[in-house]
Amino acid sequence: MHLASGITWAAAVVGLAFGRPTAAAAYYDAETGFTFSEYKAACSLSATITYRVAIPNDAYYGQSFDAVLQVVAPNSVGWAGLAWGGGMVSNPLTVGWANGNTATVTSRWANSRSTPSLYTGNSLQKLSTGNRANGTHFQFTVLCSGCTQWTGSSGFQTNLNPQGSNKFAFACSGSRPSQPASNTSSFPYHDAHSYWSHDFSAGANADFANLVMRNGGRPSVL
Ligand code: HEM
Ligand SMILES: *[C@@H]1O[C@H](CO)[C@@H](O)[C@H](O)[C@H]1NC(C)=O
Ligand SMILES: *[C@@H]1O[C@H](CO)[C@@H](O)[C@H](O)[C@H]1NC(C)=O
Repeated sequence: MHLASGITWAAAVVGLAFGRPTAAAAYYDAETGFTFSEYKAACSLSATITYRVAIPNDAYYGQSFDAVLQVVAPNSVGWAGLAWGGGMVSNPLTVGWANGNTATVTSRWANSRSTPSLYTGNSLQKLSTGNRANGTHFQFTVLCSGCTQWTGSSGFQTNLNPQGSNKFAFACSGSRPSQPASNTSSFPYHDAHSYWSHDFSAGANADFANLVMRNGGRPSVL
């Protein structure tokens, strides 16, 4: 554990020393205490969605590790989704929207470019912090167990890299889900989608499991 953290820290220092460009900036969220890697995606000319990912600093490639996803969007966004493998098809999709003074988050999977199905291959836990909707924005914060490793329909396993960049995609709509209180609601087709490379190393957290528990979550590794 101490050795692994040391290696992560050394790798981060080397990255900085060589001025490696990162596609995601580090963001410290005082409310939850997590440090996230952050990327801002344009849903429309006037609406920017912020996607943040926090992971354990001792995660290694090839292992399924927990991740906290935090998404902040202006209220003109009807739903905001993240594709963990960088495309619509054959990867976990995490989608959320405003519901009253909080947010609803749902797990989906698409085998084709049509309405995704409900997905039970991972687990999403809304944390007790970082979930709200107000006059201007909605925000959700979920612990995902099973978003960093999955097996597609061909049987091919994908692993995300905790120390480097992962191909991500997002999609969003200006229109709203039909039943906002329900995580099984249908929601309309997207108006926009795009891709980026998300550097997980900027969101590595020491003592990740304790941070999760402090925010009301149950980490899969203690
Ligand atoms: C609400 C139901 C949905 C429908 C009916 C739908 C339908 C489609 C269709 C028809 C395309 C092809 C468009 C084109 O090539 O120009 C597409 C592409 C795409 N969709 Fe969806 N989609 C839905 C939900 C989602 C969700 C929830 C996500 C991500 C969270 C997503 C992410 C993408 C991405 C990234 C592309 C670009 C092509 C690719 O990377 O596979 N879609 N979608
Ligand atoms: C909806 O929420 C329930 C209760 O938290 C959970 O068991 C279920 O997997 C969720 N379904 C989807 C599609 O996210
Ligand atoms: C509304 O929610 C957003 C997103 O969480 C937050 O940044 C903003 O400060 C909130 N506004 C108010 C008035 O609380």
